[in-house]
Amino acid sequence: MSRDSLTITDNRTGKTYEIPVTDDTIRAFDLRQIKLNQNDFGMMSYDPAFNNTALCKSKISFIDGDNGILRYRGYPIEELAERSTYLETAYLIIFGELPTRKQLEEWTYHVTHHTFIHESIKKFLDGFHYDAHPMGMLISTIAALSTFYPDARHIFDAESRRKQTYRLIGKMPTLAAFAYRHSLGMPFVYPDNELTYPGNFLNMLFKTTELKYRPNPTLEHALDILFILHADHEQNCSAAAMRNVGSSHVDPYSACAAATAALYGPLHGGANEEVLRMLMEIGSIGNVPSYIKRVKSGEKRLMGFGHRIYKNYDPRARIIKRIADEVFDVMGRNPLLDIALEVERIALQDEYFVSRKLYPNVDFYTGLIYQSMGFPVTMFPVLFAIPRTSGWIAQWEEMLLDPEQKIARPRQIYMGHDQRPYVPMDQRS
Ligand code: ACO
Repeated sequence: MSRDSLTITDNRTGKTYEIPVTDDTIRAFDLRQIKLNQNDFGMMSYDPAFNNTALCKSKISFIDGDNGILRYRGYPIEELAERSTYLETAYLIIFGELPTRKQLEEWTYHVTHHTFIHESIKKFLDGFHYDAHPMGMLISTIAALSTFYPDARHIFDAESRRKQTYRLIGKMPTLAAFAYRHSLGMPFVYPDNELTYPGNFLNMLFKTTELKYRPNPTLEHALDILFILHADHEQNCSAAAMRNVGSSHVDPYSACAAATAALYGPLHGGANEEVLRMLMEIGSIGNVPSYIKRVKSGEKRLMGFGHRIYKNYDPRARIIKRIADEVFDVMGRNPLLDIALEVERIALQDEYFVSRKLYPNVDFYTGLIYQSMGFPVTMFPVLFAIPRTSGWIAQWEEMLLDPEQKIARPRQIYMGHDQRPYVPMDQRS
């Protein structure tokens, strides 16, 4: 008997099965041979919310949640935040290696030359109410891109995939900035190719009457690092959505719109928006203990705390705390920071949070930084979606090129009625 196997005895039948173990994992399909009789469908595993199910084999991000480690393609997030740029990191995530100087120049050139959006997209934006949430506008306009680029259907053509990659990475900031300007009723600002990726984004958001917008270097740098930290995070809800929807072989814009929709939720990319609302609701340091009490009684959730994978301090949150200081030096201290620090201080020594291993996650401090930089809270998840696009594209491509992958089609355990006859209206109670 192989040592790399699991021996399962089915006590219902007394039969024993040997299931191979590879990479500490068994294949769920190997359970199917475990049957009561020949007519039995076979054993399945039940895993609501995929708590313990590997969706794929991946080479993109590595997370060790117990030790607070995150690496992209093997490179520690701390080193990338210190030494890389978002565009370079996006290249690494999508293509698997850090670019040479020439590769980076070409990549930057192509992304920069795909930042313009079709003028008709502006008409879609005009159709939205002035108070439409920018994530709603972003999701819709990303989906709309597929109608402008029908060539994106050719998902198994490497050349086409590369083109859609330039377009998606290049156009996300433009769509996001245009959605923001629409909500303010301000004219759209076109991309400026002389600026960096984050610098141009700030230009499209905040330029008013100046002839040439010059981004504040500290804010530009801070945004670049925040983009690096948000670029990928293995099989989270939105990456899984990208893979799931993409597995039907739809074009990448439609899949990316679905991933963005997944990110919109308050338990995922919408959490930083909720953190800020929570800090405003707490209102003062003195109110923190009573708020924590409400969290512990189950009345509230402490937004920006806890993570499905990290059962230790989120390594991104540590880096973000440092950036916050740099931004506050330029923009002034965010008054909500003191409340946040007090929440963290109390929570980290409270038995409720300690025993459940609930630590600040990436979203706990990002909202404060974004607010200090002048972003309204509704833009927070948008600021997450822009850099995460590189992760989504990498996950999508890895899924497409994996010969083991097929259209995603989970199973269910049916718990509803057995067959029953149709009841006419006058006989229903
Ligand atoms: N506040 C209070 N209690 C919490 C919190 C929280 N933020 N998070 C988890 N718990 C508690 C749960 O009530 C549960 O307690 P119990 O065992 O007594 O029932 C226990 O901790 C385990 O929680 P789960 O819900 O099982 O953890 P799960 O892995 O499903 O949830 C999640 C992870 C969704 C991130 C959760 O921690 C949460 O809702 N956090 C707040 C939202 C947030 O910050 N999301 C951003 C995540 S990072 C990202 O997506 C970019």
